[in-house]
Amino acid sequence: MMADTPDPNTIVWFNNQFVPLAQANVNILTHALNYGTGVFEGIRGYFNESQQDLFLVRAHDHYERWKRNAGILRIQIPPSPEELAAITIELCRRNGFRSHVYARPLAYKSSARIGVAPDANDAFSIVVVPFGDYFENKEGLRAGVVSWRRVEDNAIPGRAKICGAYVNSVLATDEARRNGHDEAIFLTESGHVAEGATCNLFMVRAGRLITPPGTDNILEGITRASIIELARNEMKLEVQERSIGRSELYVCDELFFTGTAVEVAPIVEVDHRSVGSGAVGPVSARLRALYNDATRGRMPAYIRWLSPVYRGAAAGKAA
Ligand SMILES: Cc1ncc(COP(=O)(O)O)c(C=O)c1O
Repeated sequence: MMADTPDPNTIVWFNNQFVPLAQANVNILTHALNYGTGVFEGIRGYFNESQQDLFLVRAHDHYERWKRNAGILRIQIPPSPEELAAITIELCRRNGFRSHVYARPLAYKSSARIGVAPDANDAFSIVVVPFGDYFENKEGLRAGVVSWRRVEDNAIPGRAKICGAYVNSVLATDEARRNGHDEAIFLTESGHVAEGATCNLFMVRAGRLITPPGTDNILEGITRASIIELARNEMKLEVQERSIGRSELYVCDELFFTGTAVEVAPIVEVDHRSVGSGAVGPVSARLRALYNDATRGRMPAYIRWLSPVYRGAAAGKAA
C-alpha cells in the first residue's frame, strides 16, 4: 500500500491548535527527527453509510496506550484520553470526513538543538486523513520470514510505537517486498515468531487460536485484543498466548495478521509454502467478518468500542 499525500489544507492539531497541514512543520534540528524520539499511534474510523456516521475504533484504548508508552521515553502528553478523543472527533468534523479515516497521533521530543540527552520539551500532533485498504489483496497474503530480527525489549521496547524502532519494520518490509512477499514475519533473537512488520500474527492449529505473548517482543496490539475477545465470545474458541516456533508456520491450518491498518488479513502462503489448503480458512474468514461488523457499528455488543463523530456524543468510550 502506498497512501496518497494528504491534502495540505487538511486541518490538523499541532502546537495545541487547529492549523492547516501545510503549516504543521518542525525545525530540521528537532530531537525526534534526529534521534527517533517520538511515540505514535494509529487509529481507524469507519464510515457507516446506513447510519451516516463515522465511528472511531477504540479511540480511548489507543490514547491510553499512547500516553503510557510515551512514558517509556518520558514524553508527557497532558490531555486525558477523553480529551484526545474529543480533539480527534473535532478534526473529523472540521474536515467534514464522510469516508473511512486513519488518525495519526505523534508525541515527540521537540527541542531543536544538537545533543542526544533528552530534555523536558515535548510536543504532540494529531492528523486525520481519509484512508482505504492497507493491503489490496483480499484473497490472502503471501508472507515471508525476514533475516532482520524483531527489536529486543532491552534495546528498543517494541511494545511502544517508538518512531526510531520503526527502522526495524522498514528494513523488514523492504526485504519482504523485494523477495516477492506482501508482508514480513519477524522472529525474535531466540528464534520464536514475533509478528509482522506492522501487525500481530495469529495461527490456527487443531482448532485453537494461538498468538505470541507480550514477552516475545510484540507490539501489544489493540486489534489483537479485539480478535481475542471476538474469538472467545462469538466463536467460543480457545485462545492461547504462547511462543510459536518458525516451522509451526509451515504445518498450521491457518495464519492471519491483525492490526489497525491491516485489519484482519489472512495469509495463504508463508515462505513459498501454502498455509493449510492454500485458501482463506474458515476461522480467519469468520473473524474478519466479525471484526468488520463490530468496527462498523453493526454489532450492539461492541458499540462500546466506538466513538461516533457526527452523533454529537462525547468522546472516548461513548455508547
Ligand atoms: C509493529 C506492529 N505490530 C502490531 C501492530 C498492531 O497494533 P494495533 O492492532 O494496536 O494497531 C502495529 C500497528 O498498528 C505495529 O506497528
